[in-house]
Amino acid sequence: MSLSFEGRVVLVTGAGGGLGKEYALAFAARGASVVVNDLGVDTKGGGKSSAAADKVVDEIKAKGGKAVANYDSVEDGEKLVQAALDAFGRIDIVVNNAGILRDRSFVRTSDLDWDLIHRVHLRGSFLVTRAAWNHMKKQMFGRIIMTTSAAGIYGNFGQANYSAAKLGLLGLSNTLAIEGPNYNIHCNTIAPLAGSRLTESVMPPDLVAALKPEYVAPMVLWLCHEQCQENGGLFEVGAGWIGKLRWERTQGCITRQRNQPMTPEAVRDQWDKVCDFTDSTKPTSVQESLQSMVSVLSKVDLGQEVVAGQTSAPAAS
Ligand code: NAI
Repeated sequence: MSLSFEGRVVLVTGAGGGLGKEYALAFAARGASVVVNDLGVDTKGGGKSSAAADKVVDEIKAKGGKAVANYDSVEDGEKLVQAALDAFGRIDIVVNNAGILRDRSFVRTSDLDWDLIHRVHLRGSFLVTRAAWNHMKKQMFGRIIMTTSAAGIYGNFGQANYSAAKLGLLGLSNTLAIEGPNYNIHCNTIAPLAGSRLTESVMPPDLVAALKPEYVAPMVLWLCHEQCQENGGLFEVGAGWIGKLRWERTQGCITRQRNQPMTPEAVRDQWDKVCDFTDSTKPTSVQESLQSMVSVLSKVDLGQEVVAGQTSAPAAS
């Protein structure tokens, strides 16, 4: 059975071009009512125009689809969601996609370069998503996409502001994925790669042409469909390839002894072991993180192990 979005209302931010436009077209082609949001700015956030969003709405309508344009900045999150409610009476899916770049080497990054990037990417996604949240909660359905970047996951020269904001979106998504499932609200994060005006300054033209946004959009649609139970995931997607990422942690090493001060020399001497990924684990929660450290306290200081909140008998000495 093909995946239909009939009856669903989708808000795609920054949908006047690039990836967002492709998402909007793809959702509309499968029956969704789409709010095509775009402030119509240049890649650095300058200027303003309604033309970008209008063009996409016209294209959707020409194909028989349902769409309205919205020209507000994502910094006015409530207005974007209101546009969905006014036009279609509900909001089911939010794709946080709008973005700009203010690349500078770290030391030349101005306060404005830092703040603008955070305001559009991180604060914008927060405000739009918060405005939609209660509607999703009441109707017991919601699908949210956060857009991070390889620059956020791995770091990238000249993108300290962007990397920080983009990885902030993963943190936001991680927590929404914990607060949402009781209401059937799922939140996932994608790090896309596609040719667009954002990437044409850093990639050769043939690569920009080859890496089509059409090779990303189907992933976003799947994550936003009611059949998809994925929640709290992080995915890299581009060229038709999709991979999932997760945290990996070494077994680690206890670097202190009972009744002894912990020293930097002990840390140095155990460093290889601290960083040895043999038999690594894949922790998935704060509880798991906490548990491993609390268990060290009992191992070292009490000579016993604490298992999931209960205390086991002291180990025979
Ligand atoms: P794009 O520049 O083609 O599209 C971004 C759109 O967002 C533009 O139409 C712009 O007018 C709009 N926009 C900017 N600020 C806005 C605001 N405050 N409110 C509403 N709309 C606003 O860029 P592209 O490449 O399609 O990027 C989409 C998203 O994917 C961005 O978040 C970007 O950071 C992210 N991304 C893209 C990659 C790629 O390979 N293209 C790589 C990694 C991340």
